[in-house]
Order: sequence, then structure tokens, then C-alpha cells
Amino acid sequence: MPHIDKDTVLKINSISVSFDGFYALTDVDITVKRGTVHFFIGPNGAGKTTLLDIICAKTKPTMGTVIFYPNGRDRVRLTGLKEHEIVREGVGRKFQVPSVFVNLTVLDNMILSLKGHKGIWDSIFRRPSKEDFNRIDAVLDKVDLRGCQDLKAGSLAHGKKQWLEIAMQLVQKPEIIMLDEPAAGMGKAETIKTGEILKEIKQECTIIVVEHDMEFVKQAADTVTVLHEGKVLLEGNISDVLADKTVRAVYLGRGGER
Ligand SMILES: Nc1ncnc2c1ncn2[C@@H]1O[C@H](COP(=O)(O)OP(=O)(O)O)[C@@H](O)[C@H]1O
Ligand SMILES: [Mg+2]
Repeated sequence: MPHIDKDTVLKINSISVSFDGFYALTDVDITVKRGTVHFFIGPNGAGKTTLLDIICAKTKPTMGTVIFYPNGRDRVRLTGLKEHEIVREGVGRKFQVPSVFVNLTVLDNMILSLKGHKGIWDSIFRRPSKEDFNRIDAVLDKVDLRGCQDLKAGSLAHGKKQWLEIAMQLVQKPEIIMLDEPAAGMGKAETIKTGEILKEIKQECTIIVVEHDMEFVKQAADTVTVLHEGKVLLEGNISDVLADKTVRAVYLGRGGER
């Protein structure tokens, strides 16, 4: 077994995915470090969403493995597990489409999420404990929604809905969360705030993000992996990426996708 750095939280090993002979990903190797904000960027069709789908087992790879290195526990091979098993291991995913219960309050959404694994029945009939409420308060503080507890989730502005979804992930104490274009549809101020939130929560949770907004990437990224046509083109910090001629040619030169 190869030696693994204790800072490593996730290893993507030689992942390839073919959809009826078309390779959406080819031989992708990525190491994600614990406690970092790690971006996957690249042009449309590069394979970013497919890669998130592989990590959370929504899609099965044709080849390769994904290994998760939890804090203080043995490594877990994610490839081969079911989606709910991966969530239970501590790897969460926020999808592009919002999935809050619009007719419930922010607080009730948080309670449901906290107790998600125990089922809706338990959420309705067993009052959350003092610790549960403390946990919820602390997480809502982090995303600046503490004052919104009693508002219906459906009444929140777009940005706040996205933050609520991040909070609903975070309250389950995952070790990794994956976000697909969290800043899509946000204005400048909301985007900057989202970047601040990610930098704050990486203290307790590694964050993998797919995003197109380069200002946002610059603000929040510790590491950036550039994908192009299903392959890793470059990996490094934001300055490495911005300085790279090939990256500029295939992606940045076109102004990202916006
Ligand atoms: N289920 C699927 N069946 C066939 N082709 C797919 C499927 N999912 C993705 N693809 C193709 O794989 C490539 C990568 O897609 P995707 O991962 O969504 O790219 P990105 O998120 O970087 O824009 C695209 O060419 C896309 O059309
Ligand atoms: Mg995508």
C-alpha cells in the first residue's frame, strides 16, 4: 500500500468513465488535502460534475478507485459503496438544484437535516436535544442565518437559500462536502459572502467546489484542479493556474464560461 500523507482526506486514483464508449473522464488522479477548499474548474463538458458524481456514487466509474481517509478511522473505499452509505461515512453533496423544504422554517429544515438519517418520524415526534439546538445555532451562525430561524425557507433570497443548504450539510458534521456551482445566480456581494463562508467552514470540513466565477475561485481556493476534455490539465494554487499558458488558452482566455 502506498504511503499516504496524513493531510490527505480523499484520493481519486486513475478514474475513467465511459458513457457508451465516450470517455467523460480519462485516468484522473487527484489528491484532496484535509481542511482545504479545493476547486475543480474547466470548460463546459470538462467532466467536473461527472467527477462529483463518481465521488458520491451517483455514477460508477469504468476504472479506478476513490479512497476516503477519515479522521481517526481506517480508510474507506468509496467506489463500490451506495450513495447513502457514502453520506453516512461523512461525505456530503449539495446539488445544483436547491432542495430545501420551502414551506418549512429555516430551523425546521435544519432539524430535519440533522436527524435525516433517523427518518422523518423521529424528527416530528422527538424534540431535538439541547445539544442539537446548540449545534444548529452554531452552524446557522457560520452562514449568517441565525436571525432567520423562524422564516419560511421559501421566503429566503436565492443566496440565503444556498447558504441554508450548505448549513444543512454542515450540521450533519461531514468531513467533506461537495458543492456544484454554489455561486451560480448570485450577485457580487452574495458571491463574496459565499467565499467567506467557505473559508470559515473549512476549519471543520474539507470543501470540494465546482465553480466558473474566477473571482470567487481566487478568493476562496487553496487548490485548483483544471479539467479539460476529461483529463487533468493542471493542478496548483490559483497563481499557478492563472499564469499557465495552456489554461489561459483553453479556459481563461474565453473568460471562463461567463
Ligand atoms: N449520463 C451521461 N451519459 C452520457 N454522457 C454524459 C453523461 N453525463 C455526462 N456526460 C457527458 O460527459 C461530459 C462531461 O460532462 P460533465 O461532467 O457534466 O461536464 P462539466 O460539469 O464539466 O460541464 C459531457 O460531454 C457530457 O455530455
Ligand atoms: Mg457541471
